Formats: sequence, structure tokens, C-alpha cells
Amino acid sequence: MKKLTIAIDGFSSCGKSTLAKDLAKELNYIFVDSGAMYRGIAFFALQNKLIIDGVIHTDLLINRLDEINLEFVYNKEKFESDLLLNGVNISTEIRKPDVAAIVSKIAVLKEVRSKLVSTQQKLGEFGGIIMDGRDIGTVVFPKADIKLFVTADPKIRAERRFKELLLKDLNTSLVDITANLEERDLIDTTRKISPLVKAEDAIELDNSNLTRESQLQFVLDLIKERFNTL
Ligand code: DC
Repeated sequence: MKKLTIAIDGFSSCGKSTLAKDLAKELNYIFVDSGAMYRGIAFFALQNKLIIDGVIHTDLLINRLDEINLEFVYNKEKFESDLLLNGVNISTEIRKPDVAAIVSKIAVLKEVRSKLVSTQQKLGEFGGIIMDGRDIGTVVFPKADIKLFVTADPKIRAERRFKELLLKDLNTSLVDITANLEERDLIDTTRKISPLVKAEDAIELDNSNLTRESQLQFVLDLIKERFNTL
């Protein structure tokens, strides 16, 4: 069977990664969380004091992009990949509020996007991949076999992210999360380069009232229907 390329785009905290992980497990494909890579660069900028009082020193960051090596390594205990920045596991750090607060501002930078898009395209060279993000169906894999555009009610999204962070013991509040999601949605949809838009040939999936199992089944049925397989 042909190894498919599946692109999943959508707003923050819509459950894209959950769906992508479930699909990857079901199909035995690679899963790549492209947002984690943008978060990795944001973390590097914070760690190297390239952000002072909320101001990103863009030129300094761009000059240092070559020093950044991001790599996903599968963690058998967690059944998911860790993100390594120059060999150091930063999976927990990239979920923290300080990274969430600045990542969309880092993701507007042309140089950052071109570095990450080419890495992402290399990861998907041989198909058999599910990648989630904001520009996967439009820029990274414009010829993807399946494109999904995931949406969910903003209130439900904020509650989901809140629960996720509580589980990880990361201290935050629902009010702060809601404000952060609204800000990120605005920046992600209005930036000049590769803004978040639904690709013309993407299928919209509103999962506000869907269980994890039913959203997975929806996509599996779609694959079966289109590719007469599974
Ligand atoms: O999916 P996430 O919330 O972890 O993504 C973090 C940020 O990275 C998000 O605010 C927008 C940006 N991003 C992007 O611009 N393009 C992608 N393909 C993935 C994420």
C-alpha cells in the first residue's frame, strides 16, 4: 500500500496532535508535531537571552539559527517522541507558559520558517507521515494525500489546554490560557508569511463534540473511502 502523507492544520489546542498521534499509531506512520519545532526555537531564544522584556532580538536570533539542531527521538516509555535541542531533551520546557507567550512572534520570522519548513519536508520525503501545524497542507506538503483542517469551540479549546497543563504540573490559569490562545490565533491567522488558512482541498473537522475515538474513526473512514484501503 502507498504510504500516505497526512497534513493536519488548525488553531491552537484543537486536538490536532492527539488526532495525529492516534492516526500514527493506527497506521504505523511517523508523527511530527511541527509546533514543537517552533517552540524549540522560542526556547533557544529565551535560554540565550535573545528576548529581553518581551522584545525579541530578531537579528541576533536569525544570526544564530545555524546553531540550532532540533531532533525528534522516540521515547518508548511515553509512546511519543521527545524533542531534543542540540542533544538536550526540552520536551517539558517547550510547553511552559514563557514559551507559549512568545512562540507565535518567533513563528512570523521568514528565516525561522524557511529553516523549519525545509527540515519538515525532509522528514516527509518518503511519505508515511502525519504532521500537524498551521501551514502543513498549504506550504509544507501542498500535495498531501489527505488534508484536514481541525476546529473546535474556543472555550472547549482553552479547557482542554488547561487540563493538559495541569496534568503536566505546569502552573497556569484558565484566564491566562484563554488570553494566550486568542493572541496566538490572531498572530497565526494574520501574519504575512504562511498564515493559518484552510487549504482549498482540506476537509474541515469540528471536534468540539467528538470523542477522541470518534474523530479518529472519522479520518480512518475517510482514508478507506478515498484510497480503498485499511
Ligand atoms: O501547535 P502549537 O500550539 O504547539 O504551535 C506553537 C506555535 O507555533 C503556534 O502559535 C504557531 C506556530 N506554528 C506555526 O506557525 N506553524 C506551524 N506549522 C506550527 C506551529
